[in-house]
Amino acid sequence: MQQLSARVLACESRGADLALMVLEAPGIASCVEPGQFVMVQCGGLPLRRPFSVHAASDGRLALLWRIKGKGTDWLSRLDEGALVEMTGPLGRGYTTPVGRSHVLIIAGGIGIAPLVFLASRLAASHDVVLVQGARSADALYETPPILRTLLPSVAVCDEVHWVSATDDGSAGLTGSAFDAALPHMEWADRVYLCGPVNMCSAAYAMARDGSLSRAPAGRNGEAPLSLSKLADAEVSVEQRMGCGVGACYCCSIATLHGRKKVCTDGPVFRLGDIHWDEIVT
Ligand SMILES: Cc1cc2nc3c(=O)[nH]c(=O)nc-3n(C[C@H](O)[C@H](O)[C@H](O)COP(=O)(O)OP(=O)(O)OC[C@H]3O[C@@H](n4cnc5c(N)ncnc54)[C@H](O)[C@@H]3O)c2cc1C
Ligand code: FES
Repeated sequence: MQQLSARVLACESRGADLALMVLEAPGIASCVEPGQFVMVQCGGLPLRRPFSVHAASDGRLALLWRIKGKGTDWLSRLDEGALVEMTGPLGRGYTTPVGRSHVLIIAGGIGIAPLVFLASRLAASHDVVLVQGARSADALYETPPILRTLLPSVAVCDEVHWVSATDDGSAGLTGSAFDAALPHMEWADRVYLCGPVNMCSAAYAMARDGSLSRAPAGRNGEAPLSLSKLADAEVSVEQRMGCGVGACYCCSIATLHGRKKVCTDGPVFRLGDIHWDEIVT
């Protein structure tokens, strides 16, 4: 873990309430793994804010965030050349499959932030389908040109098969990312998720119930689609954080293995291990 001043190379707004920043941060970029995060000092706010790393290579890293409050708003107003205090990499990220695998990545909304990094790492040696869901067409993620210029490693994501879904049906399939991912579930050897709690808890409920009929009962005599592998999916959990390093307990969540700290035991957990009904963000 490093504490450093990262220089802003580029910062741009994306759509109504998203922002993307590329920073020079060699001490973090050289060792961060997909799913890990950084704690960022946002102006004079007393607590640093957690952000997943969106992409990293060549001494640079990118953050992608939704503007929610004072901290994220302050960050989105920084210009090229500004210095940002940050600590990282923090937490435990996603694990990598052993041997060539079919990888299904499910991103709901801003859950895309850590998953582009994961997809770009896995695409070289695995078959990757990335399903992203958003409210409407204008909120869907497309690889930003500044990432292609400043962090060319994310171009590996071009080898990923992208599937889109929107709540209002204005692009791609109509429904959530999870709905759109279901047809790929049987194909997948490994499943990764990040998204709103309601999407993750719906995924968990299906995993717990064990199966989903692919056709109305009795039609075509189709066997139910097994969803047991979904319980083993790796999911990144968001909780409000104080310290980010395991000292304050404010990020703790209930799991099958007792209370765990999102900042040090996670943020990536096994989907089936989490008591989703107790997660409050
Ligand atoms: C490990 C981790 C990784 C994260 N990665 C990203 C990312 O890549 N991109 C991104 O957009 N956001 C990410 N978040 C959420 C992000 O940290 C919060 O949105 C941010 O801290 C809000 O700060 P603020 O000062 O702008 O808002 P505040 O004024 O602190 O809060 C504004 C609103 O946001 C809610 N909020 C605050 N913190 C969180 C949180 N941690 N999780 C959920 N809701 C919160 C509050 O309840 C409040 O309603 C991550 C959170 C965690 C724990
Ligand atoms: S944020 Fe302090 S223990 Fe996790």
